[in-house]
Amino acid sequence: MIQVENKGVLGSVSLDDIKALETEGKISLAKLTDGTGAGNDFLGWVKLPQDTPEALLDDIDATAARLRQLCDVVVAIGIGGSYLGAKAVIEALSDSFAAYKNTGTKVLFAGQNIGEDYLAELKDYLADKKFGIIVISKSGTTTEPAIAFRILKEQLEAQLGREEANKRIVAVTDAKRGALRTLADTEGYKTYVIEDNVGGRFSVLTPVGLLPIAVAGFDIKALVKGAADIATATLDGKCNAAMTYAMTRNALYRSGKKIEILVNYSPKLHFFGEWWKQLYGESEGKDHKGIFPAAVDNTTDLHSMGQWIQEGERSIFETVISVAKPERELRIPSDDANLDGLNYIAGKRVDEVNKMAELGTRIAHIDGGVPNIHVTIPELSAYSLGQLIYFFEAACGISGYLLGVNPFNQPGVEAYKRNMFALLEKPGYEKETEAIRAKL
Ligand code: PA5
Repeated sequence: MIQVENKGVLGSVSLDDIKALETEGKISLAKLTDGTGAGNDFLGWVKLPQDTPEALLDDIDATAARLRQLCDVVVAIGIGGSYLGAKAVIEALSDSFAAYKNTGTKVLFAGQNIGEDYLAELKDYLADKKFGIIVISKSGTTTEPAIAFRILKEQLEAQLGREEANKRIVAVTDAKRGALRTLADTEGYKTYVIEDNVGGRFSVLTPVGLLPIAVAGFDIKALVKGAADIATATLDGKCNAAMTYAMTRNALYRSGKKIEILVNYSPKLHFFGEWWKQLYGESEGKDHKGIFPAAVDNTTDLHSMGQWIQEGERSIFETVISVAKPERELRIPSDDANLDGLNYIAGKRVDEVNKMAELGTRIAHIDGGVPNIHVTIPELSAYSLGQLIYFFEAACGISGYLLGVNPFNQPGVEAYKRNMFALLEKPGYEKETEAIRAKL
């Protein structure tokens, strides 16, 4: 299982500082299980992995197989929680260069931005391809995915006709509400439901994440099993990884460390960092409180952000994710001329060098006043990723309650939407249009 080790923070906070949060931490965990905390109508994720019916996973696998048979490319349309989880898992499990060799079907993403060039280039790319669409929106009304879906649906219908297009579109949305639900029912798309009590950023283990991951050819049953195993152990109190992480980061926050950097040493985890940033940023950043979540990919970013982390303002701490064992084995060759001076590591595995870079950096950062939490997973597999996902979700719930916020709402994301609708003169926003014009 996941290991969390927090010795690397002890120069900044003491074990007693962390232990002082134990009672509050246990109360916070209990709020997740008994539903007595703020946002308790969004706790559907807490026991979701154990409760996911096998029949649902079989159905998702069958839909994925059908889409793969019909399509060379499947575009998953969604934003925020309806995008990042699937992207994170697919990137983590894919071959870096032949990403889809296991299935022959590519999963691309759209609706996560409003980039005109992005969408125009995607349209060009799809022009001669057999493609399908998974459109994902819990609310069914989010502007970014709605624009992308309108454009790609038109293209698919133009390429194949409406009847054939409809066989290649799957919608993941609310059971009853929203424009997407209405459209899906009218057109007869295959649909999956996002339950009301699971918020977007906690939805990767629902069809939101599972369907694109299954289309990419990965084992969703192992993913869910990994999550279920750590969920059971966390809720039974047999695994205290989430509790340790939540207490440690809150002790650091209370000691003045306002920024947390999630660090990986495996390029495949880049989008895992993006998923984690949304999970913690949207859950904790409210009431003018919250640790700012940042992420770096090392050793790449040691050559860009390394200087700041080593010697910049001491307001940061790091959480380093280590993958104990890479999937592949590659050794550094010996070279007779040795002009690059690398013969001293000839014969060593590339990962051994990576691990020494990681250890050396952790020690340097701790010495430089950057406390360090260390999270280790055995390998980048669907099972381990399932564990890592649930571990961070559980710790996020506990941590949000320790911070004293409702971890399950996101009122702040409405402000930009209001202004955008006012500026675009959306019907119903006349007053806001007038008010915003006065500010220009
Ligand atoms: O975590 C959240 O709730 C948000 O990030 C949503 O996932 C995001 O805004 C997309 O919303 P929807 O799925 O309703 O289109």
